[in-house]
Amino acid sequence: MSEVSLVDRVLAGDPRAIARAITLIEDESPAGAALVRGIFARTGRAYLIGVTGPPGAGKSTLVDKLTAAIRTTGRTVGVVAVDPTSPFTGGAILGDRVRMQTHAGDAGVFIRSMATRGHLGGLAQATSEVALVFDAAGKDVVLIETVGVGQDEVDIVRTADISIVMIVPGSGDEVQALKAGIMEIADIFVVNKADREGADRAVAAIETVLSLQTFAPGEWRPPILKTEATSGKGVAELLEAIDRFRAQSASSQGTRRRARAEWRLRELMSQRFMQHVERRVLQAGEFEQVLDQIAARAVDPYSAVDSILRRAVVQPGRAEPREPLVLDHVGIAVSDLDAALAFYRDALGLDIAAAEEVASQRVRAHFIPAGDAALELLEATADDSPIAKYVSKRGPGLHHITLRVADIRRTLATLKAKGVRLIDEAPREGAHGSLVAFIHPASAHGVLVELKQAQDSGLRAQARSSSSRSEVLPEP
Ligand code: CO
Repeated sequence: MSEVSLVDRVLAGDPRAIARAITLIEDESPAGAALVRGIFARTGRAYLIGVTGPPGAGKSTLVDKLTAAIRTTGRTVGVVAVDPTSPFTGGAILGDRVRMQTHAGDAGVFIRSMATRGHLGGLAQATSEVALVFDAAGKDVVLIETVGVGQDEVDIVRTADISIVMIVPGSGDEVQALKAGIMEIADIFVVNKADREGADRAVAAIETVLSLQTFAPGEWRPPILKTEATSGKGVAELLEAIDRFRAQSASSQGTRRRARAEWRLRELMSQRFMQHVERRVLQAGEFEQVLDQIAARAVDPYSAVDSILRRAVVQPGRAEPREPLVLDHVGIAVSDLDAALAFYRDALGLDIAAAEEVASQRVRAHFIPAGDAALELLEATADDSPIAKYVSKRGPGLHHITLRVADIRRTLATLKAKGVRLIDEAPREGAHGSLVAFIHPASAHGVLVELKQAQDSGLRAQARSSSSRSEVLPEP
């Protein structure tokens, strides 16, 4: 299955494609990242409901009942559940089977559990990407169910469009038992298993916490709802409260989604930066060495990080950012074209593009792609051609090399400032809107160097393969 067709099939809501997409994300494969790129522009329509609470609060049951209630309104639902009780993917899949039974045969519901282990990029990151898949696949509502124990879980629920915090009566210190910070993320409190002893006490405890906060007139004050998920009691009221919040918070939804984008960007950036450091900056085993040094108090963590950072990034003001400079082609002046072709084409087996006539220069150019660069055989078509003069003066051979630069004017200015002798102090027009300038061989150790700035990168390939080049050659 190609990525392109997978994107299309996800967008079409194909359940098998959704399942495949989620697996790619869970596996943290590059194909998963490609998929997210492919679908991202088509997301942002689904309403994200985050549900969190301590283990045993009855989240799965409540989410199931809520799913059924949402379905009665005609809206489609995707559920992503983070299940800490199933550390292995097999367990999560088994959990899905049990969950799916309730909604078996309903194409409007898709449920997927996420294993909590093996997510290098972060479980919350993977969960939020699964939510994107549901969103892209046209699910109207995405339910995200997590245990509010880790910061990751809290983050993912906090950045949903609405956050529901569940509490279960029993121990008497239910509210205190909740992780610090989780109280503040609640848009709705749910006291589940409300038939149990202590339900009213739990409600009162939440009320006490809320009474310490001030709410501006018109500001949403989190309601405290009682549910019995197993019987479905209170679920309709919960859905009502969700829809009420949605209507009331419509104007602030953008802020929430921006926070979600920020969180996602920061997560991804940290992850990518660490990857860069581990793969590109540190030598094999170096990370462990630094750890040893810190353990031995030979270096402090701040100095270690400073030193790694200096190697990982170009410090502003420390050095000129290097211009990306790429070999475009090597120009070779040829006196006997048939003999040259016999070598480059027949002996080396290179493909030679059709000859290009450059009338103004009285040359014919034969372009030979070679990897990312190319060879250019230059043949004079008249005795007064610069190439004819070059060959008669120095014999056939290397005539020029062409380096592609991102900003030719800047490169010329830098070269001039460094005393490099230039044939062209200002760029002139080359082929296809490109700009070219030559550096004098006197400064380039006997080689004529042509600088070239392509009009844009997309035109490079075109310029290289085009048959209407217009080489501007300086006289030798
Ligand atoms: Co050339």
